[in-house]
Amino acid sequence: MEKAEIGLIGLGTMGSNLALNIAEKGHRIAVYNRTQSRTDAFVANSGPLRDKVVPCASLSELAAAIRPPRPIIIMVLAGKPVDEQIAALRSELAGNDIVIDAGNANFRDTMRRFKELDGSGLTFIGMGVSGGEEGARHGPSIMVGGTEESWKRVESVLTAISAKFKDEPCAAWLGSDGAGHFVKTIHNGIEYADMQMIAEIYGILRDGLGMSAKEIAPVFAGWNKGRLESYLIEITANVLAADDPKTGKPVADIILDRAGQKGTGKWSVIEAQQLGIPATAIEAAVAARVLSSLKDERLAAEKAYGKLGVTSFSGSKDALLKHLELALFAGKIAAYAQGFAVMAAASREFGWNLPMPTIARIWRAGCIIRSQMLDTMAEAFGSGRADTNLLMAPAFVTMMTEAHPSLRHVVAQAAEAGLPTPALASALGYFDAYRQGRGTSNLIQAQRDFFGAHGFERIGDKGAFHGPWGSGA
Ligand code: 6PG
Repeated sequence: MEKAEIGLIGLGTMGSNLALNIAEKGHRIAVYNRTQSRTDAFVANSGPLRDKVVPCASLSELAAAIRPPRPIIIMVLAGKPVDEQIAALRSELAGNDIVIDAGNANFRDTMRRFKELDGSGLTFIGMGVSGGEEGARHGPSIMVGGTEESWKRVESVLTAISAKFKDEPCAAWLGSDGAGHFVKTIHNGIEYADMQMIAEIYGILRDGLGMSAKEIAPVFAGWNKGRLESYLIEITANVLAADDPKTGKPVADIILDRAGQKGTGKWSVIEAQQLGIPATAIEAAVAARVLSSLKDERLAAEKAYGKLGVTSFSGSKDALLKHLELALFAGKIAAYAQGFAVMAAASREFGWNLPMPTIARIWRAGCIIRSQMLDTMAEAFGSGRADTNLLMAPAFVTMMTEAHPSLRHVVAQAAEAGLPTPALASALGYFDAYRQGRGTSNLIQAQRDFFGAHGFERIGDKGAFHGPWGSGA
């Protein structure tokens, strides 16, 4: 029998969809699931793609079915199950066979797995996949970390199944070992910020302007036709327009305001801190999810402090809507600037040489944060003019110059009205601190020197100095 081009373990929704996508692009795929009935169900549902699917009842059958060097995608829960799967595969594989972890792994685990497989003959690929279930089935964005040689073995399959932006595949090799999973983690950090800022704007429309979900939906739909055009804005409009079949109310109104999280947002913040890069909008978004989960405490606090009777959003509604659109736009630019800055620092730290223009390019379609703006980012990074920070690329200077007064206006009005905008406010704080030539850390330095003799630099002088506070400190 003709050998399969690639194998896949783990036929959950993501794994099944990825496998069908691969088969649909004409590649023969061998599949295995620990519970045989799931493999049987997958095969039964594979329809016209059946002849491209090779069901396997064991790992050795799977290994035997694939053309060497054998690439095998594992799509199991992140963490221990991945290690267990690799351990189980080791005795079945040899030569330059490639184990591909396509889950949302912590890149530090990916780096460890690389080391553990070093010398075993096997190679490892840490592959970030974005786009949810739909993306996996019809075209995700794929971020690959591994050796260039192993990438070459899987490149044709991965580019074939990836989303396309104007015919360009949204799949790329980004660097060695943990590069792909790191980039996916930052993708998710930005996703958190993007979603949180959208939710904050929704909060202003709902609680500041008293608009219903049905009234807010077309506002987002309208914004999706302009500079904010993106998947997340599009689905926000759809979500807000949807009704709950059980109650007939808007679905958004019957969902408990307590958000879950699986960890990637938190990891991106931890890594940003480790690398010494401010990622304030992402940090605020992660913190906002944690705060959201404290539902009972929030209810008690509302009782203790009283509910703010929000009324006061001044000016015309049309003018405010324009401000909200621009505020979201400015906040989003700041969040992306932070995410890319974290990746630049990680690239230096881990020697990845991350290709920023390529990252922006493969995020233009397929992934959750896909947006029109990413095309402009790809251009900015491609021209080398965003190398210091995205905020310094001329195109973004122009956009921020237009949009930041609205971000300021919205954050100020929301603060007055008692409506929380932690991510938008953090984005603004970051922008204002970043653009302030003379900051206030001179005072921090003086304080540090006063209580700890840590020394400070003098303007225009070289060396370390101390203040005149002597031992009275
Ligand atoms: C994607 C998503 C995907 C998943 C997140 C959700 O890019 O396809 O980011 O990876 O939806 O894991 O993460 P939380 O559960 O932490 O929100």
